[in-house]
Amino acid sequence: MSYTIKETRATASKLHEVDINNIVMGHAFTDHMFICDYEDGKWQNPRIEPLHEIPTHPAAMALHYGQAIFEGMKATLGKDGSPLLFRPDENAKRLNFSADRMGMPLFPEDLFVEGLKRFLAIEHHWIPTSEGSALYLRPFMYADEAFIGMRAATKYKFIIFASPAGPFFSKPIKLWAETKFIRAANGGTGEAKAAGNYAAAIRPTELAKAKGYDQVLWLDARDFEYIQEVGTMNIFFKIAGKWITPNLGGSVLAGITRMSVIDLLRDKGYEVTERPIAMHEIIEASEQGSLEEAFGAGTAVGIAMVEEIGYQDMRITFPAGNPVSEDVKETLNQIKLQEVEDKFGWIVPVELGIPQPR
Ligand SMILES: Cc1ncc(COP(=O)(O)O)c(C=O)c1O
Repeated sequence: MSYTIKETRATASKLHEVDINNIVMGHAFTDHMFICDYEDGKWQNPRIEPLHEIPTHPAAMALHYGQAIFEGMKATLGKDGSPLLFRPDENAKRLNFSADRMGMPLFPEDLFVEGLKRFLAIEHHWIPTSEGSALYLRPFMYADEAFIGMRAATKYKFIIFASPAGPFFSKPIKLWAETKFIRAANGGTGEAKAAGNYAAAIRPTELAKAKGYDQVLWLDARDFEYIQEVGTMNIFFKIAGKWITPNLGGSVLAGITRMSVIDLLRDKGYEVTERPIAMHEIIEASEQGSLEEAFGAGTAVGIAMVEEIGYQDMRITFPAGNPVSEDVKETLNQIKLQEVEDKFGWIVPVELGIPQPR
C-alpha cells in the first residue's frame, strides 16, 4: 500500500553542532521525527516534522500502566552513498509481536518500513561513516490517552527518531550472572521489547557495574541456572568447536542480530544449536578447557566479545583472541556496509534523489 506522508522540514539543521563521527550514542538527535497517531480505532496522519517535544497529559496511560514498546535499528551508508537498512521488516514484525503482547494496536508493517525510508531520505547526512559508527534509529509506540483505569488505551503514538552512534564496547566485556534478580519468566513480557523490561533491569545493572562488570547475564527465573541473555544482547558460546545459544523459550528477546549470526555461523560451516544452556555446563567446559569463545549480539552493540563471567564467587574467563567471533563481526559489518555480497538479502537500500558517494 502507498501512504501519503506529509513532510514539514526544519528551517535549520543542527548537524554542524555535532561531530557525528566522534560521538557516544544517545546524546545527539537528528533534525526530524516521523510521527503517526492512533485514534478512533485506526492509525492516521503519518507525517515527518522537525524534531519536537510532545505535550504529555499527567494521566497519559503509558506513564502509569506501561504500554510502551520500542525497536532499535541502525542505518549505514552504502558505497554509492545510499542509506542502508538492515532487515527492517524483522523490526516491523517484532514491534507488532510486542504490541500484541502489550495489548496495543498493530502498526502497518509496510508503513513502518516506508516511514523509515522517508525519514532516512531526509536525515541521511546524519549517518556517520567512521569505523563502527551508524545512525541509530528508534521506532517506538506508547499510549497517550489521558485516563485512569486498567484497560488498553484507545490513543497511541508511533514515532521514529534517530541518534548518531559511535562504536559501543571497543574492549571485550565482563558479564555478571545474576542470581538474585530476574529479567523475565515464561509467560511474562521478556519476549516483547517492552519498556518495563528495561526499567526492571536498571538497578541490577547498576549493582553489576559497581562490582566491575559491564552488563548483567540474565538467568532463568526458577532455578537461576539456565542462561537467557545479556542486557541488550543475545549470547553465543563456542564449546569444543560447536556454537550454542539459548533457545527462545518464551523469556528471551528474539534478536535480529541473533537470527542473522546463526545464519552466518552456519554459512561459515559451524554447527549452531539453540537449546537451554546451564551455568554448570559453562563452568564444566571452563574447567575442562573446552570453553573457547563467547559473544553478545545486538543492534546497538554489534558483536561484543566476552572475556569474563562472574557467577557467585567464581570468575569464569575466556581465552583471548576470539578468532571465529572476530570473523563473524567482520562479516556482519561488511554486509552492513555493502563491502561483501549480501547473499542473504538482508540489506534494504533507501533511494535518494541524488546519492552522494561515501
Ligand atoms: C533484551 C535484548 N535482547 C537482545 C537484543 C538484541 O536484539 P537485536 O539484535 O534485534 O538488536 C536486544 C536489543 O534490541 C535487547 O534489548
